[in-house]
This record gives sequence, C-alpha cells and structure tokens, in this order.
Amino acid sequence: MSQSTQTDPAKLAASRAAVALVQDGMKLGLGTGSTASIMVEVLAERVRNEDLSLRMAATSRATAELAESLGLKIESLDELGWLDMTIDGADEVDPDLHLIKGGGGAHLREKVVAAASDRMVVIADPGKVVDQLGAFPLPVEVLQFGFESSRKLIRRALHKLDLGDHDVLQRLRGSEPWVTDEGNFILDLPLGAIAEPLRLARALSAIPGVVEHGLFLGMCDLAIIGKSDGSVIEL
Ligand code: 5RP
Repeated sequence: MSQSTQTDPAKLAASRAAVALVQDGMKLGLGTGSTASIMVEVLAERVRNEDLSLRMAATSRATAELAESLGLKIESLDELGWLDMTIDGADEVDPDLHLIKGGGGAHLREKVVAAASDRMVVIADPGKVVDQLGAFPLPVEVLQFGFESSRKLIRRALHKLDLGDHDVLQRLRGSEPWVTDEGNFILDLPLGAIAEPLRLARALSAIPGVVEHGLFLGMCDLAIIGKSDGSVIEL
C-alpha cells in the first residue's frame, strides 16, 4: 500500500469532503489504499486541530500502522462492536454504487468492516467511475490450501456463467505470491465487463476455498468523487 503524500488533488478533495462528515464521538472504519491513506492524514489533522474524540478500526495492518504513526489510536473491530461510518477507496464505482475493491489486497477486512458500519462512504478520483464493472481485474481472496483447485473451480464457474475463457491470475509481490493480512492468496480475474455482478458474486461465494471476492454490491451508501480542481461530486 502506498503511503499518502497528499499530492493528488482529486483524492485530497474527496478525502476532505468525507472527513467533513465525521462527528465527534463517532466510531469509524478506516479503509486501505492510496486514497484512504490521504483520508487518514486529513482525519488525523482534524482530530489534532479540533481535539475530536473518535474510536477507530482499520481495514489493514498498513492502515493501522499509518494511523498510529499519525497519533490515531486503532482498536479492533470487536472492541468497537459496531461502527457509525467507514470511509474507504475503491477500484471501480458504477452508477448503482456497486464496487470493485481489493486492488490493495485488503478487500476481506474491508468488506467485514464496511458490513459492520451504519454507512459506507467511498472516496475516489474520477478515473474510478465506470458505467459497468469489470475493466479492473476482480480480486478474489482464496485459501492457500488447495489454491490450484480453487483456481480451477473459479474457471469452471466463469464458463458456467457464459463469461468465456479468462485468465485467473495469481497476484504476486515481486516474484513471490501476494499473501494477505489473513494469510491467504489473491487471484485476479480480468473479466473486461461484468454484466451480472450479483450472479457472479453468488457463484464465487459458493466455491470452496474462496474466502472473499472484491464485488461490494449494495454496500456503499455514498461515493464522493474528487476532482483535480478541488471540487467534489456525490453519487
Ligand atoms: C484495497 C482497496 C482500495 O480501496 C482500492 O484498491 C483503491 O485503492 P487506491 O485508492 O490506492 O486507488 O480496495 O484493497
């Protein structure tokens, strides 16, 4: 995960607008990725300036480390119980606010945290807004155990759904397998277009060894799209 430098004006604009929604006393989920990192920096600044009292859970070790380095205390989701709001990035956002997430390999924790929140707010730059999901390869987290079998079963499921022949690529970090915070592998599915995300989500969830896929359907309540001139649009 990239550490934020607050240099991307579109991501910064979205982050500022999302952090403006934070109220004193809230319990928050903090997302993962370059946009979420900028948001964490903006949030830390606001907490310092306004002496806000917040409780926060992170969606990845990387985010927890960044937040703590900025003086924010991170607790576990179970310590917090339920969250008022989660602010996270996304790889794609469609007009129905369905998402692809997991480009940073954290979609398992991200989905658990978002599902345990009253509200999920997505922050993104305009490049993430799409008419149809699928140009971004769909991340699927799978157990290391029997991972080649899971890969075959995913290929078979794609055939059954008439999605055709697609690569099911193991994500690497350098030349080594990418291992998630939960100790699993990630497969990336370059599908091009996903006409029926719900059908695909159900099929993937039914495959033994699949821990979580990156389709977030009906979970996002608000998407804040930042623009490079510092303005935002809300979807
Ligand atoms: C991590 C994610 C990220 O939110 C997503 O990949 C967007 O990242 P970035 O803001 O760096 O483009 O889902 O698992």
